[in-house]
Amino acid sequence: MKLLAIETSCDETAIAIMECEGDTTSARFRVLGNALLSQIEVHKEYGGVFPMLAKREHAKNLVPILSSALEEAEMQTKEVQTLPEELSAELATLLEREPGLGETLLSYLTETAVPSIDAVVVTHGPGLEPALWVGVNFAKALALAWDKPLIGANHMEGHLLSALAKAEDESLVIADTALPVVGLLISGGHTQIVAMKEWFVYEIMGDTRDDAVGEAFDKVARMLDLPYPGGPQISKLAEEARVNNEEKHPLPFPRPMINDNTCNFSFSGLKTAIMYQLKKMEGLDDMQKKAIAREFEDAVADVLWTKTARALDETNAQTLVIGGGVSGNQHIRRVFEERVAQLPYVSLHIPPRELTTDNAVMIGMSGYFRYLRGMRADLETLRAEGNLSLV
Ligand code: KG4
Ligand code: ZN
Repeated sequence: MKLLAIETSCDETAIAIMECEGDTTSARFRVLGNALLSQIEVHKEYGGVFPMLAKREHAKNLVPILSSALEEAEMQTKEVQTLPEELSAELATLLEREPGLGETLLSYLTETAVPSIDAVVVTHGPGLEPALWVGVNFAKALALAWDKPLIGANHMEGHLLSALAKAEDESLVIADTALPVVGLLISGGHTQIVAMKEWFVYEIMGDTRDDAVGEAFDKVARMLDLPYPGGPQISKLAEEARVNNEEKHPLPFPRPMINDNTCNFSFSGLKTAIMYQLKKMEGLDDMQKKAIAREFEDAVADVLWTKTARALDETNAQTLVIGGGVSGNQHIRRVFEERVAQLPYVSLHIPPRELTTDNAVMIGMSGYFRYLRGMRADLETLRAEGNLSLV
């Protein structure tokens, strides 16, 4: 079957068209079209994602992104369509809160044939609510206009499942997964350890008490005068310090809650400790910035690994996945690879780098598994839910 998947939970507008086959234990996905527009440049001057701006950008970009994804999938046929008046009115009402989107979509629909997809999937949470709503309303409009089933996907489930996928013969395959799975989900908004003992039955084993780890990367980057998003910037500096074997930062940073016998996290103390150390230093040269970036990454990786090891121990899991934007971090990937190599029964799955940050392919995966389980969303009741949980 073919799915059209939409992601607008944060600052990426993304649509993927995917051919999906197989059952839960042997699913295979072929990405036929995949278009993504990052809003990083727009948010940079605010030093973070500004929700109302994200909403406006999604509304502006969804139709062009839809068009490029369908074009790439060779599913975009120009054809004059007459939309019944009643349908046009319903679509306009559905999109009345999304600036300009109703007009653009209506004009697109009047000149494009209905594509041969079988369902529309959309992230309905968690994320920034104004941003999520644009995607949800847009998905409803497409499902209505094209008369297709609608499926609501969970963004975190997308991060988790895409980490299980392996590239094989131009497809992404999720197979041979030994349960339970422990997932470490690390992104700009989340830091969670999740256990999946049976397929799609989740237990949250640990969560952050304050900042998410990606947020900590971004805040520390700001203290070091590095541009948004800070994660990749810190990573680059820290790697330089390691490769050149530069002198380490003289004081170790705290590893908050590392020995507290839970799988929970706290990162605001680490951020504050760095802030105090910076206040004591008069100006920072490049070497010092690199040393701080490196020590910060070391502290984060230590905490993430210690808590994950505890979760593996408690569940006897044989499969470990890490997903979310921060799982693109080279040092964290390396630390996890090295440590898991010491545990002969555990296999580590990290998403291909292009699937670590937000994208629509992972939403298609979550959507397909929900489709297999007969889950359908309702045009009337599907809502954006900023705090949508996995359980
Ligand atoms: O999953 P994601 O794209 O969006 C959310 O769902 O939040 O994650 C974005 C977060 C940002 O905080 C960004 O700084 C961080 O992931 N990030 C990284 C790296 N690449 C992105 N953090 C550390 N190292 C990286 N290489
Ligand atoms: Zn994400």
